[in-house]
Amino acid sequence: MFSSRTNWLLSPNRLSLEIEELRRKGRPLLDLTESNPTRCGLVFDQQGIFEALVNPQALAYTPDPRGLRSARQAVADYYAERGIALDQAQIFLTTSTSEAYSYIFRLLADPGDDILVPQPSYPLFEFLAGLNDVRVIAYPLFYDHGWQIDLRTLETRLEARARAILVVHPNNPTGSFVRRDELAGLLAFCRQRSIALVADEVFVDYSLGADPQRVVSHAAVTEALTFTLSGLSKISALPQMKVAWVVVNGPAQLLQDALARLEVIADTYLSLSAPLSLALPKLLDTRRTTQPQILGRVRSNLQSLDNQLEANRLVSRLELEGGWYAILRLPATRTDEDWALEIARQDGVLVHPGHFFDFSSEGHLVISLLTERAIFEEGLRKILARVAFEVQPLRPEGA
Ligand SMILES: Cc1ncc(COP(=O)(O)O)c(C=O)c1O
Repeated sequence: MFSSRTNWLLSPNRLSLEIEELRRKGRPLLDLTESNPTRCGLVFDQQGIFEALVNPQALAYTPDPRGLRSARQAVADYYAERGIALDQAQIFLTTSTSEAYSYIFRLLADPGDDILVPQPSYPLFEFLAGLNDVRVIAYPLFYDHGWQIDLRTLETRLEARARAILVVHPNNPTGSFVRRDELAGLLAFCRQRSIALVADEVFVDYSLGADPQRVVSHAAVTEALTFTLSGLSKISALPQMKVAWVVVNGPAQLLQDALARLEVIADTYLSLSAPLSLALPKLLDTRRTTQPQILGRVRSNLQSLDNQLEANRLVSRLELEGGWYAILRLPATRTDEDWALEIARQDGVLVHPGHFFDFSSEGHLVISLLTERAIFEEGLRKILARVAFEVQPLRPEGA
């Protein structure tokens, strides 16, 4: 009856079952995975948002495959603030980056072709690829005083059916940005093999410090056909509004061909609604008040994490340059999933096991730096106490 692409394992995993059970029993939980910005105590410009959504012009239907002009201009202005000049014709509006990924995979790949994705990274890629009949091939990031792209291994994984290399800038959950020298390496691969670069920049505004070695935005790349994705869900912390976009850039002829084909894909769906298209300039503008709150939250949680880790010999955190997550490294005396289960069951604290993001080794837990501060501090205290309690007996006597 059903397509093989929907043959997913639908039974919940051990951790979800445990959390469901704890909730059923009414156990108070400290959720250190909370990254839904509408549930983190941020203050939004309610009135401005509501007013933007009520616009009499929304009663007229003026379809445009790329999305309403005034909305695309607001996106172009966002990039202009970063020193990147774009033509409105290079921008397509979508209802999510997920939809934008579908457009791009449909544009570039035939069934069974390969898309290279970073590992560890955003867990949805496997599903987005599967739904579009393409194969995900992971290329590793490695950690050595910060995260780097393993370009050599990436090259060995570029087989005949590779259609695109995907980067997440900064990556989720590693918080690492693509550096200029890494981009040069990626572009060389793309040019040699006539494949595209896809850059997910939803977290690009959440940088914890400037670094001139970092790529500002892939939207400016013209050396290879490049698709840059972003949207309101992270930029303005408004995931419920369902507005995202893709910026296309590259060598002139390729760019023209890509835009013409993408226009047909977008015209087939015409997915973004008029009220949201009209509201986009205002919704994008609200970032000026939400981003400082988020960056303040991320910084203060990171500081309290560092304070608590200062004297801790069992747990450390990995370096991060931006984004909303921190990665804890703890003794691999059990699997990440077992750590997360134990911490949930014993302490009522929720964390993501590293394998959720496809870490290649055990010993990693991921926590959200968006969590409200009091919950973050208490949850973290409990995690550290749990690790100390569980690992202590393994130490040699007298240590
Ligand atoms: C790397 C990355 N891209 C995209 C998204 C989601 O974007 P959207 O809500 O526009 O689909 C997320 C959400 O967490 C993400 O981590």
